[in-house]
Amino acid sequence: MDIPTVELNNGFAIPLVGLGTYDMLGQPCADAVSSGLRAGYRLLDTASRYSNEMSVGMGLRESGISRTDVVVQTKLGGGDQGFDEAINAAKESARRLGVRHIDVYLIHWPCPSLGRTVESWKALLTLADEGFIRVPGVSNFKQHHLQMLYDETGRWPALNQIQCSPAIARTELRAFMSEHGIHAQAWHPTGRKEHMLAEPGVLRLARRFGKSPTQIALRWAVQHGIGVVPKSSHTGRQLENLDLFDFDFDSEDLADLTALDRGERAARDSDVEEEF
Ligand SMILES: NC(=O)c1ccc[n+]([C@@H]2O[C@H](COP(=O)([O-])OP(=O)(O)OC[C@H]3O[C@@H](n4cnc5c(N)ncnc54)[C@H](OP(=O)(O)O)[C@@H]3O)[C@@H](O)[C@H]2O)c1
Repeated sequence: MDIPTVELNNGFAIPLVGLGTYDMLGQPCADAVSSGLRAGYRLLDTASRYSNEMSVGMGLRESGISRTDVVVQTKLGGGDQGFDEAINAAKESARRLGVRHIDVYLIHWPCPSLGRTVESWKALLTLADEGFIRVPGVSNFKQHHLQMLYDETGRWPALNQIQCSPAIARTELRAFMSEHGIHAQAWHPTGRKEHMLAEPGVLRLARRFGKSPTQIALRWAVQHGIGVVPKSSHTGRQLENLDLFDFDFDSEDLADLTALDRGERAARDSDVEEEF
C-alpha cells in the first residue's frame, strides 16, 4: 500500500501515516513493528522515554524491510535536555535502535522549568548539520515555544508532533505552524481517550463511507495534511489505519467533525505538564 508523503521544510519527505509504538515493550513490540512494516508502514515513532527503542530496532531488522526505506523517528527525553546531553542522548538512541543515523529527532516536551529548551534545540541543529539526524523537530510545543526557538536560532523546527484529533483540533496552533512551514503530526490521532468515536456525527460518516470510527478520525487528519502515528499491536488494525485514501469528506462532513472540537483547553498543557 502506497502511503502519501509530505515534504518538510528542509526537503526531506516523510509518510503521512506512521506507526506509533507507545506502550509496547520487548518481543511483542518487535513483532508489532515487524508486522507494521510488512503491512506497509514506512515511518516508526518511538522515544527514549518509551523504553522500547531496542525492540523497535529489532522489529525493523526482523521485518526484512531495508533500513533505507524506513523513516526512524525518536525523541529526546526531558532528563537529557541540554547541549552536550542532547548530543549524547541522540547517539544513545541510535545505538539502542541499532541504526547509524536517526531520520527524525524530536525534543519530546519543552519542559520550560528546566530552561534548557534552546540549548537542546541548538544540539539538534548541530546534529542535523552534521548529518547524524535528517530532520530536527519538536513535540508538544505551543506557539510561544516555537517562536522562542526561532528568535534564538533563526530556524523553525521541521515538524511538531502534537496531541491532535477532531476532538482536540489545535486550529490556532496549526495555523501558526503552517504559516512557518512546520509540519503537524498528530499523536493520539484516534481520539479514543476523548470518547469521540461514539459521537453520532462520527458514526454517520462511518456508515456512509463503510469505514470504522477510527478511520473517520484518521481521515480527518490526513485530509487536513496532518500526519498521524496511530499505534496498534494487531496486524488487522494496523492495515485498517492505513486504509484512509479511497474516500473524501465534503464540507458538510467536515463541519460535523469540526463540531467535535473541545478547544485548546482540552489539550495537555506543556507549560504546566512536563514529562521527563
Ligand atoms: N509526543 C508525545 O508526547 C506522544 C504522546 C503520546 C503518544 N505519542 C505517540 O503517538 C502514538 C499514538 O498515540 P496513542 O498510542 O496514545 O494513541 P492512538 O494511536 O490514537 O490509539 C492507540 C490505541 O487505540 C487502539 N487502536 C488503534 N487502532 C485501532 C483500530 N483501528 N480499532 C480499534 N482500536 C484501535 C490501540 O489498541 P491495539 O494496539 O490493541 O490495536 C491502542 O489502544 C503513540 O503510540 C506514540 O508513538 C506521542
